[in-house]
Amino acid sequence: SVYQATVSAPVNIACIKYWGKRDTKLILPTNSSLSVTLDQDHLRSTTTSRADPGFDSDRLWLNGKEEIIAPGGRMATCIAEMKRLRREVEEKNSSEPKLSTFGVHISSRNNFPTAAGLASSASGFAALVSSLAALYALPANPSELSLIARQGSGSACRSLFGGYVAWQEGTAADGSDSLAIEIAPREHWPDMHALICVVSDDKKGTSSTSGMQRTVETSPLLQHRIKHVVPERMKTIQKAILERDFDTFARVTMQDSNQFHAVALDTDPPIFYMNDVSRSIIAIVTEYNRLAVANGGKLKAAYTYDAGPNAVIYAPKENIKEIVELIVSYFPQAEPFKDPFALFGTAGVG
Ligand code: DP6
Repeated sequence: SVYQATVSAPVNIACIKYWGKRDTKLILPTNSSLSVTLDQDHLRSTTTSRADPGFDSDRLWLNGKEEIIAPGGRMATCIAEMKRLRREVEEKNSSEPKLSTFGVHISSRNNFPTAAGLASSASGFAALVSSLAALYALPANPSELSLIARQGSGSACRSLFGGYVAWQEGTAADGSDSLAIEIAPREHWPDMHALICVVSDDKKGTSSTSGMQRTVETSPLLQHRIKHVVPERMKTIQKAILERDFDTFARVTMQDSNQFHAVALDTDPPIFYMNDVSRSIIAIVTEYNRLAVANGGKLKAAYTYDAGPNAVIYAPKENIKEIVELIVSYFPQAEPFKDPFALFGTAGVG
């Protein structure tokens, strides 16, 4: 018989940023974080895992190209952890086929171009862990699986849930309480939309992994952030989400993106993730919000940037069209091609 499972996992974009590890091997963060999981239709990774007694080793293909599974590396750790959970099932029930002893072949694809400069490690490791959980028919819940996805890439633990998700930093040295929990499902706030502006598809730059380590080692501002800023923001944004209070959600999201880029700049040597186009989009959103507030209204959009120049704009659905038109008026070369996830081409933008 054939043992095979295919599962997809979506991308998530943090509102309260994870930046810094207290344990680099287990991937334990220096602060809790919170994200919104994007719609599966637009950005996702899909992974097929197959176990066979004839497979003498574990093998991996990413977007059709075979990649080496480095011994002791993150991918190997995730596979080993999933096989360990499978072994527990086999030990409890001796009639179960011994899948944990078979090699596993894993093939993963993104439905978005890797060159788009969008983080694929979050959806990638979440899909990997989910497909192995399906293959091995594990009883594990998403929070338990998040413990393993976390060891592939920190932000991946948040992609095990849809909607609004917190990654609790935890205190245990073995990482057993550093996991993702659902704050609210997507249906709680269906009006929330995300607009992705790909301002550069350049993959060069400092990786999250090495960048955040350098920040931990050199930035005094990071110490202030993790002790005195993030804990309060986690509480504030969770309340805002539960109350569907977009104004507070937007304010905190933009503040936290700004502080994340400030700690990058506070790193020695400094790290710059945003470019001139990123900063222009901040100015456009700021002006858009300023006009709304001046007219007696509330904030209408929130920008956030990860470890690269691309903008993600969260806004109530009714504002998305207006925001796209506004950005296109400044960057006429931009090509919105998917609503609500408009992607803007790089050519000539800026
Ligand atoms: C800026 O999860 O990619 O996107 O754990 O080393 O794999 P590793 O890092 P990664 O870092 C993501 C950083 C971020 C913020 C966030 O997603 O919270």
